[in-house]
Amino acid sequence: MAGHQQLPQPKRFRRLLCVSLVMVHVSILLFWSYSETHSSPSVSSDQHHSSSAPPPAQGPLGCQPLVPRQAEPSFVAVNGTKTLLISAYTEHRTGRKEVRIIAVVLRREAVKYHCLLQCQGQLQQVRGSSSVHADHFDFEYGTADIMCPLPAACQTASRVAVLSAAAKSEDSMTFLEVKNQRKSDSFAHNFTVCFSVMFEFTNVLQLVQSLEMLRLLGVSRVVVYVSSCSRQTWALLNHYTQTGLVEVIPWSWSRYLNVSRGFIPSQHPGDIHYFGQIPALNDCVYRYMYQSRYVALQDVDELILPQTVDSWSELLPILEKKYGADKGYMFENNVFPITIHKLPPASTAPPLLSPTWHNVTGVNILAHLYQEPIIKETYNWNFKVIVNPRAVFTPTVHGLLKSQKGCAWVDRTIARMYHTRPAKQPNLKAKQLIYDDRLLSFSKRLIPAVNTTLRQSGLIPQQNTDRHAVGPVVEKSIKLWTRVHNWLHIAGTN
Ligand SMILES: *[C@@H]1O[C@H](CO)[C@@H](O)[C@H](O)[C@H]1NC(C)=O
Ligand SMILES: *[C@@H]1O[C@H](CO)[C@@H](O)[C@H](O)[C@H]1NC(C)=O
Ligand SMILES: *[C@@H]1O[C@H](CO)[C@@H](O)[C@H](O)[C@H]1NC(C)=O
Ligand SMILES: *[C@@H]1O[C@H](CO)[C@@H](O)[C@H](O)[C@H]1NC(C)=O
Ligand SMILES: *[C@@H]1O[C@H](CO)[C@@H](O)[C@H](O)[C@H]1NC(C)=O
Repeated sequence: MAGHQQLPQPKRFRRLLCVSLVMVHVSILLFWSYSETHSSPSVSSDQHHSSSAPPPAQGPLGCQPLVPRQAEPSFVAVNGTKTLLISAYTEHRTGRKEVRIIAVVLRREAVKYHCLLQCQGQLQQVRGSSSVHADHFDFEYGTADIMCPLPAACQTASRVAVLSAAAKSEDSMTFLEVKNQRKSDSFAHNFTVCFSVMFEFTNVLQLVQSLEMLRLLGVSRVVVYVSSCSRQTWALLNHYTQTGLVEVIPWSWSRYLNVSRGFIPSQHPGDIHYFGQIPALNDCVYRYMYQSRYVALQDVDELILPQTVDSWSELLPILEKKYGADKGYMFENNVFPITIHKLPPASTAPPLLSPTWHNVTGVNILAHLYQEPIIKETYNWNFKVIVNPRAVFTPTVHGLLKSQKGCAWVDRTIARMYHTRPAKQPNLKAKQLIYDDRLLSFSKRLIPAVNTTLRQSGLIPQQNTDRHAVGPVVEKSIKLWTRVHNWLHIAGTN
């Protein structure tokens, strides 16, 4: 018995040594697993681009430069003016071929523009004409088109630079690539959604739910104009960029202008309306004009849901038949307030409880199935549109300023918009809200899709075990201790 209690000295020493070595290993592994799970989730997905160092954090929200480095520089200033050039596109639809430059201008400044067009190896200069869009909301700056007609000798212009007649100096001109060189009627995408603009964005769960819902509806590209966002948002956008659903357009104005956070200058001072949303919408329509059959102009917290069919692919033929083709189809805005927590009515048996996604911040749209009633005063406010971009000249926040066929109001029994957000009618009592579970008919497909994406982008642990709630670090340590324990046991009995 005593022999069993007291090991001989060398054996005891060896065992001690083993134990301490094991302890060191365990500490290292614990530290490693801790730092792995607590570092930015994007680091692991970034490993594919081993050449690029992790970008530095920016500001408290730390939205990193998400986009591939080859992305074009943001905006180009026109020397001697306050004009900023955003992007340039060939305009095929007007009588004479032109280059359309989407720009932001100081509205009170009168500028005579000259366009320098790169035409098959030679530069041609033409007069540019500018027109400011009406939806400037009385901010000092507004969106404008600068049109540069192609001279007869110039079939296509590959690049364009703009100068003002007053400060004419061709020394250091910055050229923009002219996109949409060719018209096309075969499209890489049936449906593209434009999210304009993402700023200080932290609502990760609603973002992933929206993107997965859009995918179920038939969308294959979502363009996100990003000013700033959280690290988790970044990880998610990074994941979706790599898988091809999302294209991120950097939309950072701080070097150029002070953007307003609203649409009333006296309430939210700034140089330009709402984070530069209008030029973003315009850019998106032209960017996808020949890449996508349809484009939807909406926000992250909005979902256009058909009522009689299950996808946009089935919905659009219905709308075209009923309202005519090439219209802007306007969808009624229905607000589902996130401030009200109310269980589904008892009559819906069995109660459909939605899962809760721990450790992912943001709104769970499946938990907000009560809408505010539509009231006369606002019934046609804040609608959003799906359009054929080739029939559109000038989009705006709600609808179109200029298009070939105008817009058509879609009957709410065919399709309408579900807008999950803070209450618009905050004085309503819970019993005045109306239950609408249309979203639940997608939940069987939506929930696993959201889980998969959250796991793949590193926002929830890889394995969905019973223990995942205690966190991956604890779980790893438990596994490790079990291994160590077994090993010690084996070492001890040998
Ligand atoms: C702007 O124009 C002035 C002359 O009008 C010129 O001296 C200056 O170098 C130009 N700046 C840039 C950035 O092109
Ligand atoms: C677009 O829709 C057509 C017809 O519904 C379908 O055949 C095609 O595969 C879709 N294209 C894409 C990129 O989803
Ligand atoms: C923004 O506003 C601040 C304060 O009015 C000013 O100092 C700054 O120069 C402005 N920035 C730009 C880019 O106009
Ligand atoms: C997940 O959230 C819980 C509760 O909010 C927290 O205790 C836990 O540390 C979080 N786990 C991770 C891995 O962040
Ligand atoms: C998805 O994840 C949630 C929360 O992590 C869980 O409750 C739910 O059962 C999962 N669903 C599927 C289909 O994996």
